[in-house]
Amino acid sequence: MPTLKFFHVIFVTLSVSGFFLRGVLRLSAPDMLDNRFARTVPHVNDTLLLVTGIALVAGYGWNPFHHPWLEAKLAALLVYIGLGSIALGRRGERSRRIRAAAWLAALAVFAYIVVVAIYKTPRIWLVF
Ligand code: HEM
Repeated sequence: MPTLKFFHVIFVTLSVSGFFLRGVLRLSAPDMLDNRFARTVPHVNDTLLLVTGIALVAGYGWNPFHHPWLEAKLAALLVYIGLGSIALGRRGERSRRIRAAAWLAALAVFAYIVVVAIYKTPRIWLVF
């Protein structure tokens, strides 16, 4: 399990670094995202992040719905995906302002997920 968790955290780090960078490029040099690498690698990494998360839950024999922090993590993950697609998505001509706001909000949600994962409580304001 420690190995799995190690890889989970590696994918977490790669995921947020990639998301940060893609957000910067989306707003400043969108053409740089128009290539096969930028279109496929983040999805592969995010799939591995999800798979290692599910494998950890299965490995511990946990029911996610018996652990409020896991429920909060999964709900926040959906919000993160939604905001991320507003920030980076190609559909529609969204203003830079909306993209930038969605990008910042997605990063904040990501930080929330990390704190929830570390302290195992959805009420993260209690840990500060
Ligand atoms: C954006 C997505 C995610 C982020 C940022 C994230 C972040 C993290 C972090 C930072 C840890 C290490 C916590 C520690 O050091 O104690 C962790 C552990 C863990 N994560 Fe995730 N995770 C994500 C997605 C998921 C998903 C989708 C699942 C389950 C379906 C999951 C399940 C777990 C479990 C079970 C642990 C192990 C807890 C432990 O052993 O103490 N994670 N996650």
